Amino acid sequence: MGMKSPRRRESWGSRTGLILAMAGGAIGLGNFLRFPVQAAENGGGAFMIPYIIAFFLIGIPLMWIEWSIGRYGGARGHGTAPAIFSLFWKSPVSRLIGVLGLWIPLVVVIYYIYIESWTLGYSIHFLLGTSPELAAGANNPEEFLKPYSSFLGTYIGAGNGDLLSPSVMAYFAFIATLVINLIILLRGVSRGIEAFVKFALPALFIMAIILFIRVLTLDTPSGNAIEGLNFLWTPDFNALKNPGVWVAAAGQIFFTLSLGFGSMIVYSSYLRADQDITLNGLTSATINETAEVILGGSIAIPAAVAFFGIAGAVSIAQSGAFNLGFVSLPAIFASMPAGQFLGFLWFFLLFFAGLTSSLFLTQTIIAFFEDDFGISRTKSVLITMGIIGISVLMVVFVNQTLDEWDFWAGTIGIVFFGLMEVVIFMWVFGGEKAWAEINRDGTIRIPRFFYYILRYITPLFMLILLGWWGIELLPEELEKTGWTIWVARAYLVLLFIVLAILVFMADRRRKNKENES
Ligand code: ALA
Repeated sequence: MGMKSPRRRESWGSRTGLILAMAGGAIGLGNFLRFPVQAAENGGGAFMIPYIIAFFLIGIPLMWIEWSIGRYGGARGHGTAPAIFSLFWKSPVSRLIGVLGLWIPLVVVIYYIYIESWTLGYSIHFLLGTSPELAAGANNPEEFLKPYSSFLGTYIGAGNGDLLSPSVMAYFAFIATLVINLIILLRGVSRGIEAFVKFALPALFIMAIILFIRVLTLDTPSGNAIEGLNFLWTPDFNALKNPGVWVAAAGQIFFTLSLGFGSMIVYSSYLRADQDITLNGLTSATINETAEVILGGSIAIPAAVAFFGIAGAVSIAQSGAFNLGFVSLPAIFASMPAGQFLGFLWFFLLFFAGLTSSLFLTQTIIAFFEDDFGISRTKSVLITMGIIGISVLMVVFVNQTLDEWDFWAGTIGIVFFGLMEVVIFMWVFGGEKAWAEINRDGTIRIPRFFYYILRYITPLFMLILLGWWGIELLPEELEKTGWTIWVARAYLVLLFIVLAILVFMADRRRKNKENES
């Protein structure tokens, strides 16, 4: 018997499957929950211009870059950032930066999967008819929303100071969410993830279209849905002078397109070595944007505007990230005919959106164990889900962890890592080589001016964003006090150290193997 040949990496089964998996990795809670909140908070139409500009100057360029990095690595047997970065730049520094491409998706998926489980819990409540009844004769928004804000409190865990608050259904939904993710992931990239998204994404679009049509016909004495659409689609050029709006819009582009996480690299590593990037990348980004601005933008905001007017909808968005999606929307649906069905659709839509993204984020860590340690898929999935299942206790029981992790990993981390990707690919690997790699076997040729955007404008834009955060947000962040903040931060550091040690162990393992052969 000769030496064991290296494990053949999986690849996507079909082009449709690939595009849907990529789009599914992007379409998530960000499209239906985060986008409406960000847009409403930042002035509706005022938000949309920087948002669209950021899509062209950061979204599309970074999408092509991440797909290329992934395809390049996949053809050489690697799926995750640390190993692929060292193909471009042989230095411990590149591996250390690469650790962020594991750390970010891991940190995000821990709190993401927890929120995803609420959407499953809520949809079961609506299906069974056990969602809260509205207060009879409520004549102000606060009274109207109260049953649902208390209900959210039973899901949020220690966030409200009560360690035992998550209800039985919340626990059940959380375990069920972990198990559903586990089952799909155990089946593998093509037979599990791809097979699931081929069904889930069309189903998600159908659910969203039904809600969209229902919401657009809403008309109450306080307002109507069309006013909500006007609020979002009437441009306000004055807002271009406000850096805060730019930062929010660019941050949303990163989050919604799943850029700067390190996970898009992993999904792209399952492309065949000659598979198109230019058109496929553009197509999946466009599908995400359709889901976000057309569908995500036409449900929560118009419904809230119809019930509470523009000022009311804005103040709900400002009152907390979850109040629009988990308090106002269910209360609005519950007050309508067929409300139970509509509420179920809303939360099941969110569940599918969340699920396609949690699979995407989790796959990053699974790929790391599989590719870099040669561990079987089953074991890799179990180890990864075990880490997530244990770490989520932090989010449930240590107050403020969710916000803290979302700030460091899901807000600043993704922009920093995105910048590093551009630097490593477009500068260290080399602009012309990178450009040729992006266009190689492309169905469409990217116009040359994008080369200059990718090399200069995209990184400059990100540098400015980071600078602004450093000046505006960081001092505020560092002023926070309380032991829970420090425990949450310490856990982040611990996860980073553990991942970094594993990355360097994998590196040693690879070198030993090279020496042996
Ligand atoms: N892109 C994913 C979302 O929008 C993470 O939720």
